[in-house]
Amino acid sequence: MAATPDQFEGFLIKDTKNWSTFTKEKFTPKVFEDHDVDIQSECCGVCGSDVHLITGGWGDLPTSPICVGHEVIGKVLRVGSKVTTCKAGDRVGVGAQIQACLKCKNCKEHNENYCPHKVDTYGAPYKEDEGHSEVAMQDKNGKQIFSQGGYSSHIRAHEYFVFPIPENIPSVEAAPMMCAGLTTYSPLVRAKVGPGKKVAILGIGGLGHFALLFARALGAEVWALSHTPGKKDEALKLGAHHFVSTKDKDWAKPLAFNFDFILNSADMTNEFDLPTYFGTLACNGEFHNVGLPDKPLPEIMAQDFASNGCKLTGSHIGNREEALAMLKLVSEKKLKPMIETIDISEEGCKKAVEKVKVNDVRYRVTLTGFNKAFGT
Ligand SMILES: NC(=O)c1ccc[n+]([C@@H]2O[C@H](COP(=O)([O-])OP(=O)(O)OC[C@H]3O[C@@H](n4cnc5c(N)ncnc54)[C@H](OP(=O)(O)O)[C@@H]3O)[C@@H](O)[C@H]2O)c1
Ligand SMILES: [Zn+2]
Ligand SMILES: [Zn+2]
Repeated sequence: MAATPDQFEGFLIKDTKNWSTFTKEKFTPKVFEDHDVDIQSECCGVCGSDVHLITGGWGDLPTSPICVGHEVIGKVLRVGSKVTTCKAGDRVGVGAQIQACLKCKNCKEHNENYCPHKVDTYGAPYKEDEGHSEVAMQDKNGKQIFSQGGYSSHIRAHEYFVFPIPENIPSVEAAPMMCAGLTTYSPLVRAKVGPGKKVAILGIGGLGHFALLFARALGAEVWALSHTPGKKDEALKLGAHHFVSTKDKDWAKPLAFNFDFILNSADMTNEFDLPTYFGTLACNGEFHNVGLPDKPLPEIMAQDFASNGCKLTGSHIGNREEALAMLKLVSEKKLKPMIETIDISEEGCKKAVEKVKVNDVRYRVTLTGFNKAFGT
């Protein structure tokens, strides 16, 4: 088996003005530590978050140049001396988080996705001693090392954030489960979505299409709410029992007090009339945001919660147990996401992020052809 190179190679962005101009470059990964796993990447999904970040929607780039991508599937090349969760040769996945302290209250309560010391898969500064020290991890030139993502030849991750992939899930389908899948599976199960529950999935993109698969597989009655009427047939195929175009006048009227849970994966919530959505919730129902727009949520009144006692909530990805349970569910129920593939290259990355930007993906792009592009 190939050894891990000292430098990894990826397709990187330099500035937000040229957000779809990728150049192939080498970069220095974090120092290899006892719990680390080196993975030779095979493919990587293209998340809406990659596009928010490189376009500057969420602010300046945290580091430049930056390699985005946090839906990686690949093969384990080597493991650190303390690793127990996987071994060389295993097919594994890595999502949007790559390290946490695993000692704090949140981590101990299986909320490592809310660890104050967490390291995102790209654009986050590493600290020494697997994140337990306050000292910045530096390369041999004294430069702070940031995490770099999955549009790249290899990825180095703490073993806790490396998930074994069941044999019957193809890599190109498993890739987007690492972020889009987990981010929707986690809030659905935490909200106890299942038989007898009425659930709306709002915004049928990469995240939303997984949410339809999962809400249906968990046994709920499922509505797809979309501003793209052309998605109806596919939404029904993915598992929705009902499709509602939010472009239709008075769409919400017949749905008053209907939903127990709305999972909002749209990323233009800043343009939504939120009280209209709140009005479709049953008493104490929940409007749950996983979509993260570039702009603030619309102004709302405290009174907007008064007619049904509804709740406005949100979440960030999910934990390890949920990632493993999601993969088990997909494997056992043979759930099939809808994936487009594009071979990775400077042009391929450009095409992929531009398609996401204009809502032209059905429903996730997975970048492929890594071995050829990187000679791995
Ligand atoms: N919380 C987390 O941990 C987490 C993790 C991953 C991603 N995210 C965020 O989740 C969001 C979705 O990501 P994604 O990868 O699923 O992106 P995506 O594939 O681009 O999907 C976004 C969906 O939003 C809807 N939408 C787009 N423009 C809209 C508009 N003008 N008005 C109403 N709806 C609109 C569309 O659905 P319809 O055409 O059906 O309306 C679109 O498919 C992003 O903000 C991303 O950053 C959050
Ligand atoms: Zn993501
Ligand atoms: Zn922690």
